[in-house]
Amino acid sequence: MHPIDRNRAVQRFEAVSRLALGHYPTPLEKMPRLRNALGGGPKLFIKRDDYTGAGFGGNKVRKLEYVLAAAQADGVDSVITCGGERSNHCRVTAMLAARLGLECTLVLNAPGREDVPKPASLAIEEVVGARIVRVASREERTPAMEQAAEELRGRGMRPVVIPVGASTPLGALGYVSAASELAEQLAARELRFDAIFFSSSSGGTHSGLAAGKELFLHPNTRLIGISPDDSSGSIQSTVSGILEGMSGKLGVELDCEITVVDEYVGEGYGVESSAGREALELAARMEGFLLDPVYTAKAMAGMIDWIRRGRLPSSGNVLFWHTGGQMALFHT
Ligand SMILES: Cc1ncc(COP(=O)(O)O)c(C=O)c1O
Repeated sequence: MHPIDRNRAVQRFEAVSRLALGHYPTPLEKMPRLRNALGGGPKLFIKRDDYTGAGFGGNKVRKLEYVLAAAQADGVDSVITCGGERSNHCRVTAMLAARLGLECTLVLNAPGREDVPKPASLAIEEVVGARIVRVASREERTPAMEQAAEELRGRGMRPVVIPVGASTPLGALGYVSAASELAEQLAARELRFDAIFFSSSSGGTHSGLAAGKELFLHPNTRLIGISPDDSSGSIQSTVSGILEGMSGKLGVELDCEITVVDEYVGEGYGVESSAGREALELAARMEGFLLDPVYTAKAMAGMIDWIRRGRLPSSGNVLFWHTGGQMALFHT
């Protein structure tokens, strides 16, 4: 990118309003024991976005800081969003809405069974007083959110509908700012990464990091998104759609390479894979941190597999970006 375009994009990015709701910078730590357990290879690092704070942290906090800032500026008094019963996005949205004094409605595509343990995220949403609306399928979520918005408007309220994962061009700015935060940490340590691995699903994290790399990170750093659910083609097209919207916001053409790997999904979304289980146990036993079975364990399984297969420069530095989600380990 030409330096003049880059400076203009950075200025536009910095002018966007953001609420201070998380704890930053999140730690950047080494993983020497995991590296040894893998028999050497690139030096391994982790960025702890499971420590962003609100609602047990994770990547949603960064995105919602932008989305909720715009909502507040619009005089919104209630938020509506959607996800599954274990959705990290729904839990964090409910917690942040409470903190900002906003009503919260969550449209969950789950039947609400009494005969199975209640997911921890749902239990937390009940504690925080979110209104739960249940639908039978993912397809019914958007119409149900529109209907909830209509009802609230009928009561004289001013709701905002936040799309799944807050993965809009605005929400994705959260990961542009995360890339800028990482760049500062790297400059202080005179370090650069050859590759960054992370879980990529609704595309906000990925598009934010891709745009953020253009503005703040080394051009040779490869971004490798690992899918927990959809095909690589479908996530790639979501990411490029969000990047298109971000190009407009930042006034610069964001023509980024988008790599999504869908080889580590296993039996499907939310189903623990054996490679994911191995990654979860290795991370816990070698480095003393927890991954989650739905997103981050599969992303870590991907990184481990690439290292074992010698697909990364053995003298290089590789980052695993932890995006949170550990509540999925717990039920009430
Ligand atoms: C813990 C966790 N990691 C990663 C992701 C994927 O991030 P994104 O939806 O921005 O692609 C999610 C999203 O649902 C998540 O909850």
